[in-house]
Formats: sequence, structure tokens, C-alpha cells
Amino acid sequence: KRIAVLNGPNLNLLGTREPEVYGSQTLADIEDLCREAGAKAGAEITFMQSNHEGDLVDAIHAARGFTGIVINAGAYTHTSVALRDAIAGVSVPTVEVHLSNTHAREEFRHHSYLSPVCRAVILGAGPAGYGYAIDLLAAQAAD
Ligand code: DQA
Repeated sequence: KRIAVLNGPNLNLLGTREPEVYGSQTLADIEDLCREAGAKAGAEITFMQSNHEGDLVDAIHAARGFTGIVINAGAYTHTSVALRDAIAGVSVPTVEVHLSNTHAREEFRHHSYLSPVCRAVILGAGPAGYGYAIDLLAAQAAD
């Protein structure tokens, strides 16, 4: 099993970025959590972060044939038809994750272009949400 964990813009700043919203864990901590969850679920984890929309499109394409994709697209969630089309185009089961509960925040965060093409959406669970997404994708995959 192979699962790609993709992170969008500004998530490289986690740990110091608005800690009252996103907590104190860094992206490196989240990567460790994902690798542990992957090891337990018997899945190899590919982990990346980019601040560039096209690089995220490329990373989705590179996950063709994988067991699943976990994506926190950051602000591109609320703007990107290109990421939505990429997810729809590769037909790899995808789980959308957000650290914060975007529905409890500003109106412009309530809409996601990605949710309609995702298998599941996990909001507001903090870093643990990534682990839940990996568990879900591994459990739903045929061996
Ligand atoms: C986020 C929520 C987005 O609205 C925001 O733009 C982010 C982080 C989250 O993980 O809660 O960058 O995706």
C-alpha cells in the first residue's frame, strides 16, 4: 500500500503560524505522525509540502496507482478548480484534511472545491486527522 500525504501553502510555517488556530506541532511532527500511522497500517508514506499550486497538481498526478491521497490543500481548498480536477482525474481515493474546523471560521473557508471529489473529509481534529485519514484509506484498500 502506498499513500501520498500532500500539504499546501503556508503549512511549512506550522508551529509558529497562528498557534492559537493551528497548535504548536510542526509539519515535521505531522510527518512523523503520518509515518507512524503508515507503519501501523502497512502503508508506505510519501510526504510533501508546496506553496505552489502547479507543484501540488504534479504531486497528485505522481500518486496515480497509489492506494490513496491525503491532502491538506490549505487556502487552495477554497480557490482551486485545478486541484479538484487533478483529484478527479487520477481516480485515487482521496481524503481531505484540515487541522482546524473550517466551518467554525470565516465564511470564505466554508466552501471547498475539493470535498465533492473526495472520499472523506476530516475537519478540526488537528494533526490526528492525518492519522485517521491514513487509517481510513488503508482499511478501505483491497490488499
Ligand atoms: C487549513 C484551513 C485553510 O482554510 C487555511 O487556508 C489553511 C489551513 C487547515 O488545515 O485548517 O492554510 O487547511
